[in-house]
Amino acid sequence: MTKDNIRTIPDLRLSDPSRVLSRVAQIGSIGRTEDGGCSRLAFSEQDIEARDLVASWMRDLGMSVTSDAIGNLIGILPGASDVAPLVIGSHIDTVENGGKYDGVLGVLAGLEVAHLIVEEGRAPERPLWVIAFTNEEGSRFQPDLMGSAVFSGRLGLAEALRSKDSAGSTVEQELARHQIAGSFSIPETPLYGFLELHIEQGPVLEAEEISIGIVTGIQGFRWLQFNFEGEANHAGTTPMTFRHDASLGAAWLVNHIKVLTQTHDGLVGNVGDVRLTPSNINVIPGHARALVDLRHPEQGVLDNVVETLKIELKEAGQKLELGTTVKDVANGSVTQFDARLVDLIEDCANDLAIPSRRLVSGAAHDAQMIAGFAPTAMVFVPSRGGISHNPKEHTSDVHIREGISVLLTVARHLLFESDRNVP
Ligand code: GLV
Ligand code: MN
Ligand code: MN
Repeated sequence: MTKDNIRTIPDLRLSDPSRVLSRVAQIGSIGRTEDGGCSRLAFSEQDIEARDLVASWMRDLGMSVTSDAIGNLIGILPGASDVAPLVIGSHIDTVENGGKYDGVLGVLAGLEVAHLIVEEGRAPERPLWVIAFTNEEGSRFQPDLMGSAVFSGRLGLAEALRSKDSAGSTVEQELARHQIAGSFSIPETPLYGFLELHIEQGPVLEAEEISIGIVTGIQGFRWLQFNFEGEANHAGTTPMTFRHDASLGAAWLVNHIKVLTQTHDGLVGNVGDVRLTPSNINVIPGHARALVDLRHPEQGVLDNVVETLKIELKEAGQKLELGTTVKDVANGSVTQFDARLVDLIEDCANDLAIPSRRLVSGAAHDAQMIAGFAPTAMVFVPSRGGISHNPKEHTSDVHIREGISVLLTVARHLLFESDRNVP
């Protein structure tokens, strides 16, 4: 992977971002919420509508459109020869009331690259695949990164199909209901490379007035489900010393996660979903369920924190006179991206004279699942105010144009490079 021939390729910039911007708005109108956000939980009607729109854009481009057993949507632009493809992808599902750019921008950036290559009228040397991965967010069905994890063999299909949402529907049922599972399977030839453009979802690039983040890797995450078992009872008649109040377990957990983040440098933790059952003003909660997200850039630290937390949970349960259980619901290992692709992205940003810096991603991404399977790297563009998973999520038109220009330059380099340089 050298960049010697980059300068021989004319006009590598995306000069007119209007098609991408209009598509961001079109997808953003699907599942639009009152405050301007988007709700397109995986396998919802809105998710499927957005997916159909992306598939229609793929077809308009002359791509062949297919899907695999977990419903990943795959558009294929053939190359001059049937060698290992370059793949660009991300996701179009959102969290509840999330933003317009998270994931969507990466899929549309891939499509834009495909569009510009087609317009150029010269078949690339290798195929280009653009993928919208199923259920990246994991808000409704865990684990998150489901489509990319199955695609890369990190998660078994059977396990993914069994995943249930809180209403008891399974992924298998949803795939059948929407008829989006296909028979595509990855050919023997490994992927030549995987690229994902994404919004930063953090404050660093904006604060430093830098347009491009060259992502060197992703911190690890562990998602855990905690259960506290007490006894539901009358809130007026039960003396305080007689209670087995499960909400106290949840309260301990919320506070303890905060303490752990204060005592472990670099650890971030979130208790994003607490459910009390029953959930009534005059009933002592008999059961509490809490979902916890812990992340750290060093795998050893993260795993130690989780092991210690499991022991501390037992002690807290004994003190509070509550039964406790904890189970893993998802995890992503600390990931390093491919050094040659990272260098290539940096070289391309420099050649385009677009300011860039290296950084580690705090958020999980489909690229995290693909990294063990194919040479992988990511391009970040700034998020206004560092806000994401929120209707206020925003990335400027200029940054979108610059991000896609870098992606296009990298992709063209890889697509038109000869097979002699397979990484
Ligand atoms: C993905 O949005 C994540 O949880 O980092
Ligand atoms: Mn995302
Ligand atoms: Mn997200």
